[in-house]
Amino acid sequence: MTESIYPALYILAAAGFILAIKWMNSPATARRGVIVGEIGMLLAVVGTLLRHEVINYEWILIAFFVGSAIGVPIAYIMPMTAVPQRTAFSHACGALASALIGTAEYYRRMPHGFVMGALVLETLLGFLTFTASMMAFGKLQEVLPQRPILYRGQNFVNLGIFSGAVALGVALIARPETTWLYPVFALLALLFGVLLIIPIGGADMPTVIALLNSYAGLSASAMGFALNNKLLIIAGALDGSSGFILAVIMCRAMNRSFSNVLFGAFGTIQTSAKQVTARPVRSASPEEAAEILDAARSVVIVPGYGMAVAQAQHKLREMYDVLMKRGVDVRFAIHPVAGRMPGHMNVLLAEADVPYDRLAEMDDINPEFPRTDVALIIGANDVVNPAARTDKTSPLAGMPILNAYEAQTIMVIKRSMNPGFAGIDNDLYYMDKTLMLFGDAKVFVSSIVKELNTAVAAR
Ligand code: TAP
Repeated sequence: MTESIYPALYILAAAGFILAIKWMNSPATARRGVIVGEIGMLLAVVGTLLRHEVINYEWILIAFFVGSAIGVPIAYIMPMTAVPQRTAFSHACGALASALIGTAEYYRRMPHGFVMGALVLETLLGFLTFTASMMAFGKLQEVLPQRPILYRGQNFVNLGIFSGAVALGVALIARPETTWLYPVFALLALLFGVLLIIPIGGADMPTVIALLNSYAGLSASAMGFALNNKLLIIAGALDGSSGFILAVIMCRAMNRSFSNVLFGAFGTIQTSAKQVTARPVRSASPEEAAEILDAARSVVIVPGYGMAVAQAQHKLREMYDVLMKRGVDVRFAIHPVAGRMPGHMNVLLAEADVPYDRLAEMDDINPEFPRTDVALIIGANDVVNPAARTDKTSPLAGMPILNAYEAQTIMVIKRSMNPGFAGIDNDLYYMDKTLMLFGDAKVFVSSIVKELNTAVAAR
């Protein structure tokens, strides 16, 4: 009886995963997507537990309680800004599970032919994704140095170790009985994962995590072939392809190639002030900024990484409410790689309950900037840097940007003249129509809200 139920549960679970990915495409349907994905996973787990191969539930229950005891507090304690490292940690756990299952299957069954090939692929990707994800976690959590560590011949060393692991994997497929090869193969894969991440700067970790997500998915898919589990093949393939597509989208939005992310050591000059020239800028106080906003008919807010650092989204929501009540048309312009992780701005603004229909994507809002009275840039820098269009030698050259420079007045909230992620100066700050609002984003926006409220009370 149960044997006939589980395929039906698997089909429903697979449908849930596919719908989840579709609905997570838009902030308006993302919650529904998450719920359907969770239901799909529940059906997958129940279906698997009903299979006749499961004869003992004790260990499964222990693992369930241990996993929940770790996972549930992490979900509650981890702040929103730590989501990239939490994702890296989840990938590490998933990849380790995949690699350990493959290892157990190897010693238990010692399969041959196609199944052994799938098992080698599963464990190779699983082990390397485990250590690479732990390294990415360490860099993002700042327990490891964020700067890229480079040395002569690095790419050859990495390629040599990877080739060694692949060669041992091929030898294992040819002669699975040569058991002494397996631990060496696993060690080389683990080592490669560490070495792969060492030359990459901490700021590039979000893109790397999307790639690692893809590897973990492929490992799970290979595990599906090794265990003859169709749901794992489907779920792994979905994970692998969506992670890969996400990494491609991120690279495109930064106008960078995969090889540049993996081997380019980008972000090394991230905090260097050397790239900034000493030119005069015009600055303004919160009172002046509030007056300008109050007099505007249309305002486009451009949030960036600094808004996330300052956690200014709730104050921003208050400012949005006050201005909208006063008849100002306020919208938020979202650049695909603003911040440090995909959807960073969407997540933060959703947390502050900013209505979705007030968020505009880059291609939709760009034609609106010339008709916009005020572009208010909050902790964004690279994503509004005109050098991406005008300077072919710039590290940002070719990256699509938000055309904030076309607005009638530009106001920029940031703490100093320091550059952003790309480490370069921004000509936007020196334009005649630009006012620099120096300060922490949350503190400055709070002061603007206070000024606006005082103005309302005075009328
Ligand atoms: P950035 O160019 O990094 O600029 C952020 C700005 O925020 C800085 O200039 C900084 O200036 C300011 N800031 C920091 N803390 C602040 C605070 N507490 N209050 C006010 N301002 C603060 O950010 P962006 O425009 O969002 O661009 C994102 C960059 O990251 C792009 O180059 C993108 O390619 C890269 N990147 C993005 C992703 C994803 S998926 N989003 C992944 C990897 C890389 P001060 O220090 O002067 O305050």
